[in-house]
Amino acid sequence: MDTQISNKRKLQPLKIGDLEIKVPIFQGGMGIGVSLSGLAAAVAACGGAGIISAAQIGFMESDFEENTLEANLRALKRNVTDALKKSAGAGGAIGVNIMCAVRHYEEFVKASIEAGAHMIISGAGLPMNLPGIVPDTQAKLIPIVSSARAAGLIIKTWLKRYDRLPDAIVFEGPEAGGHLGFKPEELDSAQHNFYRTIEEIREEIGKGIEAANKAVKQTIPLIVAGGIYSREDIDKAMEHGADGVQMSTRFVTTEECDVHPDFKQAYIDAGKEDIVIVKSPVGMPGRAIANTFVKRTMQGRIPPESCNGCLTHCRPDTTPYCITKALINAAVGDLENGLIFCGSNAWRADRITTVKEIFDELTGENATVEGGSEEV
Ligand SMILES: Cc1cc2nc3c(=O)[nH]c(=O)nc-3n(C[C@H](O)[C@H](O)[C@H](O)COP(=O)(O)O)c2cc1C
Repeated sequence: MDTQISNKRKLQPLKIGDLEIKVPIFQGGMGIGVSLSGLAAAVAACGGAGIISAAQIGFMESDFEENTLEANLRALKRNVTDALKKSAGAGGAIGVNIMCAVRHYEEFVKASIEAGAHMIISGAGLPMNLPGIVPDTQAKLIPIVSSARAAGLIIKTWLKRYDRLPDAIVFEGPEAGGHLGFKPEELDSAQHNFYRTIEEIREEIGKGIEAANKAVKQTIPLIVAGGIYSREDIDKAMEHGADGVQMSTRFVTTEECDVHPDFKQAYIDAGKEDIVIVKSPVGMPGRAIANTFVKRTMQGRIPPESCNGCLTHCRPDTTPYCITKALINAAVGDLENGLIFCGSNAWRADRITTVKEIFDELTGENATVEGGSEEV
């Protein structure tokens, strides 16, 4: 493996406007409580992009139940500040993932930028209004899409409403973890078309850059996510037009990942057959480990005990279960009552590793070949 990597091209830095990220690897935002400042800082310290998930990020604050919004905004700012401080000068970047489906979306965007986040990455819906919330920001605004159509729609809308283009685009395919932007019956065909979709999004990007009609042509880097696990996966995505990749599942089983150790162990213990598609109250399918909680949700509704109104479209009186409670339970290690989101590759983890070990493997740095270590 190391010998193979040493023969490959060095990964090139990713330029998003004036933001240069030394290694073109994003660690995707993982809520609730899976990617906080610990993981994001470790990734940025290796030169990648560490993404903090804003989803219910204040769940450990003492006033979370009664003061949810304030607790979330306080914890969000603290996590961004900490991650920036811990990774300063390493050539990486810190971003915040904010789902369009959350209530108080605008407040989360503004708080992230006030705290100094380099990027806002936003999916689970189309972030049509994002540039209007922070019109003068230098932070990079990056939508997540699941199709070329969605990419085209965002590009056209942002141009028309705000005379601007996305700074980059993340394309997330159906092998991803957490909520998926596909109907269950679309998953197989979407995976079949994964690489073609990368090329189609590139075409939409090309059309958008032309339509922008600016004297200086902007680039829109494309970051590809969903099932990317090895250097071979990265190279293949790049051969089809990706400028960078986003990986999440791979980073869960690291020492630095912020989630409870039992959550990480569940990945290590899972077999391929344990990874399933679940229904989520968000209204999209999700991918998770089929633990006792998931099996209980399949038998009937688990009425929420309380509600802090986290999602715009959730109806507490009909929701199949409370997604916030289920994800918080998992984050703190109550797996009996927790939803363990994961990507399709979670079964491949066989031990706890470190972020640096993963970066060394993926970039080929410190790769040893017969006769000693080799520059790549
Ligand atoms: C545990 C977990 C939680 C996630 N939570 C979120 C989230 O809150 N918001 C979001 O946009 N994506 C979320 N995702 C999706 C990831 O950010 C990422 O794009 C995707 O999982 C990449 O595929 P991979 O896991 O195969 O690398 C989550 C993924 C996982 C595994």
